[in-house]
Amino acid sequence: MTDTTTHTAEADDRNDRLLIHVDGKLVPKAEAVVSVYDSGFMLGDGMWEGMRLYDGEWAFFDAHMDRLYDSCKAVRLEIGKTREELRAILDETAAANGMTGDAHCRLMITRGRKAKPFQHPGLSKWGPTIVAIIEHSVPAAALSRGLRLASVPQVRGLPHSQDPKFNSHSKLNCIIACLQAEEAGADEALMLDPHGFVNTTNACNFFIVRKGEVWTSTGDYCMNGVTRANVIRVCREAGIPVFEKNFSLYEAYSADEAFLTGTFGAQTPVAEIDGRAIGDGARPVTERIRALYKDLVARTVAAQKAAR
Ligand SMILES: Cc1ncc(COP(=O)(O)O)c(C=O)c1O
Repeated sequence: MTDTTTHTAEADDRNDRLLIHVDGKLVPKAEAVVSVYDSGFMLGDGMWEGMRLYDGEWAFFDAHMDRLYDSCKAVRLEIGKTREELRAILDETAAANGMTGDAHCRLMITRGRKAKPFQHPGLSKWGPTIVAIIEHSVPAAALSRGLRLASVPQVRGLPHSQDPKFNSHSKLNCIIACLQAEEAGADEALMLDPHGFVNTTNACNFFIVRKGEVWTSTGDYCMNGVTRANVIRVCREAGIPVFEKNFSLYEAYSADEAFLTGTFGAQTPVAEIDGRAIGDGARPVTERIRALYKDLVARTVAAQKAAR
């Protein structure tokens, strides 16, 4: 298996000694468990958000909460807590672990513990289950070399099968794509949409740069990534032409630059797709977007702090 994925962080021994929030309690990592009857464990019936801590603030907290509450509403999963109560859980967990920055959380909400080991959501009698894992996290320096992508047969599909906008606990579709990429000798999968246009990767959104223009998929078949939206925003603010449009592998292979977006790694460069080197290794537009995004994070975090 590859040792570099889009979520590879620098090694940090403190992550062996974390305190994890499990249903109202802070417990040591080794004791942080849920029931084998939990809807998330048994069926992947839950939603999650990944957020990053900068200077004591969860960057783009409102956008993450919008997505989480929208997803849970769509599947009738009652969170039973306000956004501020969720933020308090995250703040308390970060404080208990001595974190104010360089940390990444996975906040998970499942439909809770079931009375019987079967699918019907009505059997989830005791819920939701709320877990927050926050790890010390600095994206690995090796990621700056760029990831190798392989296009794979697995697609992120139509909204009426399982809407790709759900950040659901079940990631089997993406995991199958990831395995296919591994089998092709790559680090990450480049997934197409049902029409064969370039869509997204198994864990991040995908952008290319051609002749100074920034292109990403239409957004119809991929996760509505918070970082994706912010990259589009900073491009627009800076006057960089940015388009959400259909394009195929044909244009991806001959792009000048390509990068992935996600909360964990912000913008991660792509070195090759299906064995073809992307561009000549220079990444001026990606670097500019990285700087603009860093500035947006700093502005947003300052505004969030001021609003508390
Ligand atoms: C499939 C997929 N695409 C993209 C993303 C990136 O989203 P965001 O920028 O909100 O972290 C994620 C993260 O959860 C994801 O699971």
